[in-house]
Amino acid sequence: DVADRIAKISSTIRIIPDFPKPGIMFHDITTLLLDHAAFKDTIDLFVERYKDMNISVVAGVEARGFIFGPPIALAIGAKFVPLRKPNRLPGEVISEEYSLEYGTDIMEMHLGAVQAGDQALVVDDLIATGGTLCAAMKLLERVGAHVVECACVVELVELKGRDRLGEKPLFVLVSST
Ligand code: PRP
Repeated sequence: DVADRIAKISSTIRIIPDFPKPGIMFHDITTLLLDHAAFKDTIDLFVERYKDMNISVVAGVEARGFIFGPPIALAIGAKFVPLRKPNRLPGEVISEEYSLEYGTDIMEMHLGAVQAGDQALVVDDLIATGGTLCAAMKLLERVGAHVVECACVVELVELKGRDRLGEKPLFVLVSST
């Protein structure tokens, strides 16, 4: 059943303490990618959820949203749009600044990639404080898309990123405490 499938996926994610700095429990999804059955099942669980939800665009957050987003987009018949770090996209962009633990970062999206009325799914590997997903949703909403949901493989529950998303639904496979 689904609980067994999720337990198997969870068991393939390697946790590395104090990376990239002290106090952070890094959830390394590269070990999930090495396990074909677990990687396939991760994508399948998302596809089962989103295939009949009329999603027209999957927006993936750099960097690891670029791993999970495209196979979901292909399977559900949606376009894929990368949300990138600053100065990577060659066309005209809109930018959203957001706060990190120390300082700020910027996320960019190509103008014209997403249209008003698009039904969007935001995909990333992990939600921690939720700041990244909030910036992603803002970019999409600024061009008139409707964000249907955010989807992540892992949620770091103690950081309460879910609260920061407000009313916006968040779907995760693995809740880590
Ligand atoms: C991680 C993760 C999310 C973000 C979540 O990315 O992949 O994108 O942090 O954090 P938040 O919920 O607190 O905003 P990271 O900062 O490691 O960047 P990278 O994917 O480019 O390596």
